[in-house]
Amino acid sequence: MPYDSLARAHRSRRTGRLALLAALLLPACSEPTGPEKPIDGARLYAQHCARCHGPDGKGLKEVPGVRDLTDANLMGMLTDDRVKATIRMGKPPTMPAFAHFAEPSLKVLVAFVRQLSSPPAAALAGPAPLGATPPAP
Ligand code: HEC
Repeated sequence: MPYDSLARAHRSRRTGRLALLAALLLPACSEPTGPEKPIDGARLYAQHCARCHGPDGKGLKEVPGVRDLTDANLMGMLTDDRVKATIRMGKPPTMPAFAHFAEPSLKVLVAFVRQLSSPPAAALAGPAPLGATPPAP
């Protein structure tokens, strides 16, 4: 084979490899990432909480001692920080800790849980009144 066509074959193989590399990298760039991707509170709740608290938040009767998240009296006693602490640390022995939830997801999840009660219970500022379960450490 004359040198000329050998060189041409080599060049075109290199272009082919570059095109393949570009094809591999491009889809990764168009993928939505991080904070631009909205966090869906309903989906988080359905995935992690509904198996005990029920799809509507009232709590499944199979789960002993589960709290009714639609109860405006109960939810009104719990501050946002308290609900976040409950989610992150759990409620032994039954409610597991969701320690991997970080702030943006926690905030969205708390907002979702709040609108389950009717009328939606606003967070009470300050500690829970006497007689309520003590705040998690
Ligand atoms: C395995 C069952 C289970 C799962 C899963 C679960 N919970 Fe609970 N949850 C419970 C039980 C049981 C209680 C009552 C515990 C108690 O009062 O000692 C409770 C209590 C609560 C309370 C009231 C806490 C308080 O401070 O008095 C909130 C709010 C709550 N859960 C939210 C959630 C959220 C949000 C999720 C999903 C991230 C979740 N739970 C997942 C079982 C569960």
